[in-house]
Amino acid sequence: MDLKLTDKVALITGTGSQIGFGKGIALALAREGCHIISVDVDLEGAQKTAAEVRALGRKAIAIKADITKKAQVDKAVKEALAEFGKIDILVNNAGRASGVRPFVTTTEAQWDIDIDVNLKGTLYFTQAVLPHMLERKYGKIVNFSTHAAHQPTGLAGAGPYIAAKAGVVMFSKTLAGEVGPSGININIIAPGPGATNFHRTSGAPPQMVELVESMAKEGLAATPQDIANTVAFLVSDVAKKLSGQVIEVFAPAGSPGGGAN
Ligand SMILES: NC(=O)c1ccc[n+]([C@@H]2O[C@H](COP(=O)([O-])OP(=O)(O)OC[C@H]3O[C@@H](n4cnc5c(N)ncnc54)[C@H](O)[C@@H]3O)[C@@H](O)[C@H]2O)c1
Repeated sequence: MDLKLTDKVALITGTGSQIGFGKGIALALAREGCHIISVDVDLEGAQKTAAEVRALGRKAIAIKADITKKAQVDKAVKEALAEFGKIDILVNNAGRASGVRPFVTTTEAQWDIDIDVNLKGTLYFTQAVLPHMLERKYGKIVNFSTHAAHQPTGLAGAGPYIAAKAGVVMFSKTLAGEVGPSGININIIAPGPGATNFHRTSGAPPQMVELVESMAKEGLAATPQDIANTVAFLVSDVAKKLSGQVIEVFAPAGSPGGGAN
């Protein structure tokens, strides 16, 4: 299937992790012909990813930005537009959790990490890029939730993170209705467990890290390539009739750690 993504410009957040979904998305979109703006608070990681994109023959720049800081987000989008003149695709992939612990013991500072990185960061980047997309009457946005935000009992010990990721879903669906008539598609990916840096940097308990690693060995974890394939489809005009959709990228129901639905 030709996704017709040649010379599209994609801004992807969270590309610094060298085993993360963001880098996988950047490389997959580059292979489909996109130029890449690689954004992360970890500049060195974002630069490594940009260098790999350039090795594939596409243009790429790396920008350091903490997505929880509006001024840094606005500056990143300005820089990207100055370099490429357009942004066709925005992938709000950067995310983390503040840890897993009983809700009664959580502090406001911990909730703020969950809400600011996952929800506010997505709002900031979307608002910074939207005026440009509205002007061109073209744009593709993919936001990141989690499979756990779709389970009947969420994920015990991660209430604020799950609330933020559920917020991303309804924000994206609402905006999809608002800007759909202006030629902008917004969809949501809800990954199942993936053996990235996520569980280590998000204070997950060792048994959760072990479960995900054993799922990865069995080929049941969500891989960067699984996620990237889904993103590539969603940001193409092949999927232009899809908007406001949540796509769970998950091991099949019935397999160990697999989907409940
Ligand atoms: N891995 C999983 O099991 C899993 C499951 C469900 C959802 N997700 C979601 O997938 C997305 C990608 O995560 P991943 O698994 O690749 O994790 P990862 O830890 O490998 O990569 C996350 C990247 O986000 C960056 N980041 C974190 N906070 C940032 C900030 N404030 N500003 C800029 N960059 C920041 C990190 O530096 C890192 O490069 C996240 O939104 C995560 O919540 C992951």
